[in-house]
Amino acid sequence: GKSGYDHFMLKEIHEQPASLRQCLSGRIDELAGHIVVEELDELEAPRRVHFVACGTSYHASLYAAALLRDAGVPATATLASEFATADPPLPNGTLVVGITQSGETADTMSALRDANSRGAETLALTNVVGSTAARECDHVLYIRAGPEIGVAATKTFSSQLIGANLLVEKLLGKTTTSRELIESLRDLPSNVQAILDDSNAEEIVDEYLDSTAYFFIGRGLHFPVALEGALKFKEITYEHAEGFAAGELKHGPLALVTANTPVFAVVTGNDENARKTIGNVKEVEARGAPVIVVTDGQSDAERYADAVLKIPETHERVAPLLANIQLQLVAYHMANRLGRSIDKPRNLAKSVTVE
Ligand code: F6R
Repeated sequence: GKSGYDHFMLKEIHEQPASLRQCLSGRIDELAGHIVVEELDELEAPRRVHFVACGTSYHASLYAAALLRDAGVPATATLASEFATADPPLPNGTLVVGITQSGETADTMSALRDANSRGAETLALTNVVGSTAARECDHVLYIRAGPEIGVAATKTFSSQLIGANLLVEKLLGKTTTSRELIESLRDLPSNVQAILDDSNAEEIVDEYLDSTAYFFIGRGLHFPVALEGALKFKEITYEHAEGFAAGELKHGPLALVTANTPVFAVVTGNDENARKTIGNVKEVEARGAPVIVVTDGQSDAERYADAVLKIPETHERVAPLLANIQLQLVAYHMANRLGRSIDKPRNLAKSVTVE
């Protein structure tokens, strides 16, 4: 049942401290300072990694590929439905990773089978034990999020981001993981709980019920969060929403920005990325758009915001997950205010088993 929540989606959003704890359980050796992923002990470090996935899982793939590239491993992410036509070269030493919550998505399975038939090693990052992806891939890493009933993926996305971190540390063959990352992973469940306890997302959406469209911007690891924030929002509110790389605004989307298009901007830390995104925030503000900033308060982004969704300070790799929790709540509360069918949005299925 829904354990007292109005919708499975809200219940699943609130389950995240527990589902993330479960994902990390036994996988952090704090004393030794390293990540333990027993099921991947046989996996040898690949020379390059190719992620394939759809929808929300594709956003997790963009994040995962960025982490690997940051560590010097060539990595790309392709929409599974585009894999056949993109026909990427898969030279020796290529690992193809399918990220799929259900483990049953036809597009993802078809890309994994194609990769397998071309001789690549395959790995499934999935939630469902014994799923098709888990059975057919050479390796499997479970995200252990527990069953997700709501059509909109929430807790499984968060666990995919953590699964990506576990995978990356493992693929790098690292004997130690930075202490800051280990501590941020350890503190993750309580930081998520703090957001769930204090979020003002419900009040904020009330201000913007009658808007023309809703935009989400982010840079670097927050770009996949911008895409995910918009996907969740459009899926369950049926309102027009788009996610953009913050720097792309002036290359086109800025033409859509008006006083009637709220812009959700994700800005954490206080580095070059943050400063550039704040520059983009000023661009949309100059067009009269309401700006809602998701921030940890390290920069002065709040100064340019009409509303603020606060997240705790954490490791830069974990911040996207925390920011996304606020955007899950934004999508949920907006859809709820609009009276939408949140757990079963029109035209959508939980598991897409046709190509
Ligand atoms: C969005 C959503 C879908 C799925 C996509 C892939 O909320 O749920 O976009 O992410 O259909 O599904 P899996 O991860 O099961 O392969």
